[in-house]
Parts: sequence; C-alpha cells; structure tokens
Amino acid sequence: MRIVVLVSGTGSNLQAVLDAVAEGTLDVDIAAVGADRPGTLGVQRAAEAGYPTFVVNFRDYAVRSEWNAALTEKVASYSPDIVLSSGFMRIVDEHFINTFEGRYLNTHPALLPSFPGAHGVRDALAYGVKVTGCTVHIADAGVDTGPILAQAAVEVLEDDTEESLHERIKVQERRLLIETLDRISTRGLPAL
Ligand code: GAR
Repeated sequence: MRIVVLVSGTGSNLQAVLDAVAEGTLDVDIAAVGADRPGTLGVQRAAEAGYPTFVVNFRDYAVRSEWNAALTEKVASYSPDIVLSSGFMRIVDEHFINTFEGRYLNTHPALLPSFPGAHGVRDALAYGVKVTGCTVHIADAGVDTGPILAQAAVEVLEDDTEESLHERIKVQERRLLIETLDRISTRGLPAL
C-alpha cells in the first residue's frame, strides 16, 4: 500500500508511522511526504528517514484553486493508494477530494463530529467536556468531516492545559493511526 503523507508542522504522528515502518510493525510503502509550507519539522523528519519529500507552498499561489490543483497533481504523481493528512492544516477542494475519493484519510485530536477545526483540543477544553479523544476518518470536502474509521477516548484531567491534554491525545492518536493503516493495508478500506 503506497501512501503519501501531508503535514504542516511538527509531524510527531508522522514520526510514529516512520518508526513503525522502520521497525517492521507496519507494512506500508511511504511514497512521499509533503507540506504546504517550507521548513516543517515533518518534512525534515521524512527526509532524514530517506523518503522523498515535496512542498507545494500555499503562499506561492495567488488563487487557492491553483494551489489545490498543484497539490493534487503533485500528490497524484506518486500514485498513492492512500493519502494521509497528518496535521495538514489546509482545507483541500473538491478537485483534490474527487481525485483521491474515499482514499484521503485525516487524523483529528477530538471525538468527531465534536470540535472540528484547527483547535479541536482547545475547543474541547473550553467547552468543559470530561472525555475527549481522537478520530481517524475518511475526509470529504468539509472541515474534519467524513466517515469515521476509528476513535479513542481520552479523559480530561482537572489541571489539564491544551498542551498536556494534546500530548495525552497524541499518544492515543499515534496508536490509532498505526492500527488503522495496518488494518487498511491488510484488509483494505471498509465498504461504506
Ligand atoms: C495532530 O494532533 C492532528 O490530529 C492535528 O494536528 C496535530 C499534528 O501533530 N490535526 C488537526 O487538528 C486537523 N484538524 P503532529 O504534527 O505533531 O503530528
């Protein structure tokens, strides 16, 4: 199973995938890792692990649709079976979604459909929920919407900050992501 991973920042979830592949606990072929801006730690991690990387810089395009078209073309050039948004903080358009229909996965640090968007952890904490978690789902053209593949719950502690809660969520998120990729690589995507 060939995957292209998209990142915007730290790439700690990506690192867990790279480690699982290196250890032989996850049998996927990482075709490339790409970002929407230069200088991400995520792309650096992939390059250090010896994988092809690319940047389709959002700021290089005057119009969002042109960036979307360039990103779609670049990702498609690696012929992925699965495209994984792992902390990729840009909304992609219908052209991208249609090109990789049903094969574009996203991981989100909340129990969707609660708390979508760029601040899932902060929003859950601000609301005062006692349990939150993470979700791996097939992404459609919405913001963190689409069929859910797997979820894990994480308890919110009295003295949690956004950072401490996100760190505990990420522990579950990495496990969930690797389990989900492993399941898809061995059994395929579930019929929806
Ligand atoms: C992850 O928790 C991921 O779920 C979240 O960004 C973090 C990236 O961390 N994504 C979203 O909030 C998407 N709406 P990482 O770069 O260290 O893997």
